[in-house]
Amino acid sequence: MVDPELGADIVELGMVNTVTVDDAGRVEVEVALTVAGCPLRAQIQSDVETHVGALTGVTGVSVRTGVMDAEQKKAVMARARLLARDPAPATDIPDTARVIAIASGKGGVGKSSVTVNLAVALARRGLTVGVLDADIWGFSVPRLLGMQGEVEARDKKMVPLERKIGDGVLRVLSMGFLADEDSAIMWRGLILNRAVQQFLEDVHWGDLDYLLIDMPPGTGDIQMGLARMLPRTEVVVVTTPPVAAQKVAARSADMARKGYLRVAGVIENMSDFTCEHGTSYSLFGSGGGARLAAEVGVPLIGRIPLHPSVAAGGDAGTPVALEAGSPLADAFDAIAEAVITTIAPVVAMDGCSVRLLERVEAAVSAGSDDDRPSVPQAPLEPTAP
Ligand SMILES: Nc1ncnc2c1ncn2[C@@H]1O[C@H](COP(=O)(O)OP(=O)(O)OP(=O)(O)O)[C@@H](O)[C@H]1O
Ligand SMILES: [Mg+2]
Repeated sequence: MVDPELGADIVELGMVNTVTVDDAGRVEVEVALTVAGCPLRAQIQSDVETHVGALTGVTGVSVRTGVMDAEQKKAVMARARLLARDPAPATDIPDTARVIAIASGKGGVGKSSVTVNLAVALARRGLTVGVLDADIWGFSVPRLLGMQGEVEARDKKMVPLERKIGDGVLRVLSMGFLADEDSAIMWRGLILNRAVQQFLEDVHWGDLDYLLIDMPPGTGDIQMGLARMLPRTEVVVVTTPPVAAQKVAARSADMARKGYLRVAGVIENMSDFTCEHGTSYSLFGSGGGARLAAEVGVPLIGRIPLHPSVAAGGDAGTPVALEAGSPLADAFDAIAEAVITTIAPVVAMDGCSVRLLERVEAAVSAGSDDDRPSVPQAPLEPTAP
């Protein structure tokens, strides 16, 4: 179980005070937080519930939260200082933006289709959504969104291309906006990881509510790199109904955990096809999404039916999620709703421990002149919201 801000195991951080298990398999866990009113409290609570609840033999989980004592705060500070010395690259992605990587172990399950349609569904609710196409050489986001153009630079940083959707807006960055022949040659020499790092670091993302990252297939370097560069990234795993796909997807969830990324949920794509007469067919089998979600101990966020309009919308650059009232748009809207309300709600971070990390970073860089990184003297308690 990873602390959403510090990107480290809450047990290693000394945040778990007591764990008791009774004969009936009911588990009680007490977790100490940096501040009592931490907005991440609900998230930490529900993460512990889902992870512990998924263990064999556990019949119920209750999570109590307390506030850290001096010893525990020291351990957390030590970890924060470590992170501050080996800082993740600076990005201008706002602290409050929720970062969601759409991943799968296998190619072709619909990661890119899910990414763009979920982005559209969120934007239709008036949100500002960044879309980062991390599939550097297999990019497909520009085509799926019907966007073309060249990225411009401002103050030596790339400016994402924008597309307005209702009251919301998409800010999109893809190799497809850079890959004219000359720049492609220039880029080819770079390690993929570096390319993604540049997409995070050297970009004017501006105010974002969400940043969705369309991951390349597999469980490679980019996944691990992301864990280091943006430790607060949460992973949503896309899978298809068959059990075989579920196994591969489980590997990718496992990778995400080893890289200390939080797996937030599962989306099943290419689920039952319903023909115009209203009959449903489980063309690829069924139940893979639910089984994977249970195995990983996270919620099944939604199921998207198999339908030719997904592919047609992608080819035309008009994602199905744009067609208000269509069953496919409804499916994506339901997923957007789940994301906003439970999976990754936008939280007000004022007064949370995220401020702690910022203060430590500031103190370390201020103290670096005399080579004596100092612990910030500011109290850990929140400043008034
Ligand atoms: N629900 C769906 N119904 C019908 N076709 C779909 C659906 N979802 C995706 N597709 C189609 O399946 C193909 C693969 O989808 P997509 O490119 O989104 O997958 P991907 O996981 O991003 O693939 P890659 O691993 O190559 O990046 C595309 O042709 C797409 O139009
Ligand atoms: Mg793709």
